[in-house]
Amino acid sequence: MSSSEFWLTTDRLALRRFGPNDQNWLTSLYADLEVTRYLGGTKTPAQVEEMMASRILRYYEDHPGLGIWMTLERATGDRIGFHLLNNIHGESTIQVGFALHQAAWGRGFATEMGRALVAYAFRDLRLARLAGTANLENLASQHVLQKIGLRRRGERVFTHPAYASQGPMAFFERDRFDWLEQAYPAASSGRS
Ligand SMILES: CC(C)(COP(=O)(O)OP(=O)(O)OC[C@H]1O[C@@H](n2cnc3c(N)ncnc32)[C@H](O)[C@@H]1OP(=O)(O)O)[C@@H](O)C(=O)NCCC(=O)NCCS
Repeated sequence: MSSSEFWLTTDRLALRRFGPNDQNWLTSLYADLEVTRYLGGTKTPAQVEEMMASRILRYYEDHPGLGIWMTLERATGDRIGFHLLNNIHGESTIQVGFALHQAAWGRGFATEMGRALVAYAFRDLRLARLAGTANLENLASQHVLQKIGLRRRGERVFTHPAYASQGPMAFFERDRFDWLEQAYPAASSGRS
């Protein structure tokens, strides 16, 4: 793979678009009981194929700048999971999210690329607000959402079938100007 396919990089990680050749990889991720425990459960190969077509490949064209991207470890080139910026199903609200193969857990990877995506969302896309959701029992994900700059805003119940089985979910948000003020305090103090 040429490095030009990497559209966002951090010290250890890189993001690129998914392609049709990644379908088997995604099928194995969604067959893992632990990885999908708080993602609505495992998906069949047919469900992954549908997700790949509508929520990944077509989504890039329909929503410029947004999507679900493959996360790779730069040192090895290994595919370790995905990071995303996309609309919460059934809403226009844009969320940040992540899921990694178990072998990649506990190394700070979700946080490292999550932080870069939040900066991209506010600086480059200039989104007014960014959200995040997590199952109430998914403490690791909640912790990552806070570490990358989102703030806990209580709980929300989502009626869309993609989330309904999870019951009330931990909800996180951050406003662009609030994030900018913290990221660039000197510049913000001069803003009228
Ligand atoms: C959630 C997930 C992405 C975290 O990835 P990761 O790369 O291991 O996360 P990081 O290492 O960046 O950070 C995890 C943080 O949560 C903490 N953590 C881990 N398990 C925890 C737990 N059970 N309770 C509280 N905190 C926990 C870690 O200590 C770490 O915090 P620290 O850096 O302050 O020590 C990963 O576990 C995963 O892919 N899970 C399955 C998919 C999923 O649930 N995605 C989120 C959907 S909302």
